[in-house]
Amino acid sequence: MRAITVTDQAAGIGGAEVSELQYPHAAENDVILAVHAAGFTPGELTWPATWKDRSGRDRTPSVPGHEVAGVVAELGYGTTGLTVGQRVFGLTDWARNGSLAEYVAVEARNLAALPVQVDFTTAAALPISGLTSWQGLFDHGQLRAGQTVLIHGAAGGVGSIATQLAHESGARVIGTGRAADRDTVLSLGAQLFVDLENDHWDDIGQLDLVFDVLGGEVYMRSLPLVRPGGRIVTIAAPPPVQPENGQAIFFVVEPDRTILAHIAQRVAANSLRPIIGAIYPLEEARSAFAPTTRVHGRTIITVRQHD
Ligand SMILES: NC(=O)c1ccc[n+]([C@@H]2O[C@H](COP(=O)([O-])OP(=O)(O)OC[C@H]3O[C@@H](n4cnc5c(N)ncnc54)[C@H](OP(=O)(O)O)[C@@H]3O)[C@@H](O)[C@H]2O)c1
Repeated sequence: MRAITVTDQAAGIGGAEVSELQYPHAAENDVILAVHAAGFTPGELTWPATWKDRSGRDRTPSVPGHEVAGVVAELGYGTTGLTVGQRVFGLTDWARNGSLAEYVAVEARNLAALPVQVDFTTAAALPISGLTSWQGLFDHGQLRAGQTVLIHGAAGGVGSIATQLAHESGARVIGTGRAADRDTVLSLGAQLFVDLENDHWDDIGQLDLVFDVLGGEVYMRSLPLVRPGGRIVTIAAPPPVQPENGQAIFFVVEPDRTILAHIAQRVAANSLRPIIGAIYPLEEARSAFAPTTRVHGRTIITVRQHD
């Protein structure tokens, strides 16, 4: 099967090539997916799991990409809950070969059924942004209707989904970003937009929750805005400092079939949409990782012709 492989960490995406790999093995509780569309994280070639397996052994050549939408082609021994021919989407294991390939082995529990109304390209943009937003807002952030949440990078991959979910939950949303993001963020349901580079935002009031995707100086400037007993949830890096009377939480997104189903249901009902900025064929994945112009929204790799 065709796949994008990387073999040399120092070379990064420059060392990526289109390779012929063996069809993957379906371990117990796995499914093999015929990949239709895939998503990747630009920084994933710096993650240890891209290069080593869970025992610390070199696992190159390694296939990048951890978001997948496709059709179940085979079930491993003992796999239940999914059937051959079913349309599904989800998150592949960080330390196994990923989704920039014609086929990928994934634990069935990390996948959810994909409603017919949702095309594969849209579905491939959902797993990381959708799970991260849901877990950040509701699991770690404990956001409730009537509360106020500040979402940084609200026009980005994670922030755009988080803004829509927080708005739908009945929270008051303040979204941040660059000046050019204002209309996008307001159209996603934010009541107020803050241009981080030009607006004065140190006095926007006491917040129940800050959802931070940027870290660094933006994280530090957000700390005084957290109300006593409130939270700042960050996905950028472990918090260097806690808010004075609140709590800071860093987490890494986890697979979750139930949350994926909630996300898919909303996309099928047209109440949630990911922003897709570019679509490339598998052969051009190297250019997709290192675009020459800034892409606004997620970049998706089409592996098979579909829909
Ligand atoms: N811990 C986890 O589990 C987890 C999960 C998912 C993602 N992440 C990480 O979270 C980060 C965000 O991911 P993402 O997919 O949402 O990225 P993204 O699509 O690039 O979104 C970031 C948004 O913030 C904006 N932005 C960046 N710097 C800014 C600044 N100084 N002032 C104003 N706006 C600024 C960007 O605008 P421009 O596009 O104009 O730069 C973009 O709209 C990444 O570092 C990613 O690796 C972590």
